[in-house]
Amino acid sequence: MARAPAVRAPERPFYLFVMDHRDHLRELALPALDIGTGHGARHTALLQDLGIQTISLDISHKVAANYHGDIRDMQAEPESFSLIFDIKAMCFLADPPIDKIHSWLCPGGFFYCMTPTHKHKEEGAYDVSQGLPVQLYSKEEVRELLHKFADVNIREHSEPIGRTQWLSTWCIEARK
Ligand SMILES: C[S@@+](CC[C@H](N)C(=O)[O-])C[C@H]1O[C@@H](n2cnc3c(N)ncnc32)[C@H](O)[C@@H]1O
Repeated sequence: MARAPAVRAPERPFYLFVMDHRDHLRELALPALDIGTGHGARHTALLQDLGIQTISLDISHKVAANYHGDIRDMQAEPESFSLIFDIKAMCFLADPPIDKIHSWLCPGGFFYCMTPTHKHKEEGAYDVSQGLPVQLYSKEEVRELLHKFADVNIREHSEPIGRTQWLSTWCIEARK
């Protein structure tokens, strides 16, 4: 029997977003930026497989990435990216640099984010923070953070964790 591939699959909501928008992203003809790439760079790999150039950034030198550093210190030209995405990385920041991200996106570009919700205190909900300083936002707080964007779509994604617990994540699509 064939072995499962060593690289983890992309998050399903992000995969579906990319498949829906790939033609638009190709037309914008600018690179994407993967904030907090992580081991295996699974989301950078997805975009590159679709022919969308992607720059990877991670604060950890243990992670293979184009650049190493804190997203809050990054410098970039205005309107230089078609897509900036954060899959469960900026939830560790009390001050995510949303204004910079907005300025780095071209008109019609997207910020896509998956971040845990505030629901960890509900029955059966997995407490993703586990005592760590993780930012957990309500839907209203996400809207407030992203008020500069023209169009913001926020959906909840619930996935089972083990046998009895579930994890709640906001899937956020914000168009400039
Ligand atoms: C939970 S992992 C998610 C990895 C990847 N996005 C994925 O979904 O497979 C979070 C990653 O964000 C990185 N990270 C945390 N804070 C960061 C920061 N301020 N700037 C850049 N990367 C950061 C960590 O080093 C880690 O690799």
